[in-house]
Amino acid sequence: MKKEINIHDKIFSIYIPESEIQIRVAAIAAEMNVKYKGQTPLIISVLNGSFMFTSDLMKLLDFQCELSFIRVSSYQGVESTGKLKQLIGLSEDPKGRHVILVEDIVDTGHTISALVEQISATNPESLSVCSLLVKPDRHEKEVNITFSGFVIPDRFVVGYGLDLDGLGRNLPHIYQLKNN
Ligand code: IMP
Repeated sequence: MKKEINIHDKIFSIYIPESEIQIRVAAIAAEMNVKYKGQTPLIISVLNGSFMFTSDLMKLLDFQCELSFIRVSSYQGVESTGKLKQLIGLSEDPKGRHVILVEDIVDTGHTISALVEQISATNPESLSVCSLLVKPDRHEKEVNITFSGFVIPDRFVVGYGLDLDGLGRNLPHIYQLKNN
């Protein structure tokens, strides 16, 4: 495992190794396996950042489930623009379904609250938010997160699906920006 990496001239140091991520993913899956037993929820994965998390999580679910993707974008570099662009819309109708919205990270909370509002308007049977990472110090919106992996301080992170301007998503570990 590399202790430090370089992306776009920025230095990142190891923060959450793959083994720790997998322990939390398994714990979240175990919680879901209790909550959704006998049901067939619709998992909505928020692209691009949550592709790896969604994949690892789904392999550990022992109930039937469907998968749909939504793609939004608000970040440029290491700063949130606060404006949400919907790049790919939903292909399944959440109406009457148990929906699990899967995010990589909740930062200001703008993305997740806009998505919660959009999906709630379609009248799902239930709606839960699952986020691998949560940065409470940055929240500008109140967000109700049912399943979370790690609560982290205000640090920019990459790896395990998360990027800095498109790079770093393939890293199996999570790294944090140095001297932030
Ligand atoms: P929010 O709308 O500010 O909560 O931002 C959510 C989105 O911004 C996430 O889905 C990520 O794609 C991106 N983001 C927020 N913080 C980070 C970070 O530390 N590293 C990489 N992407 C981030």
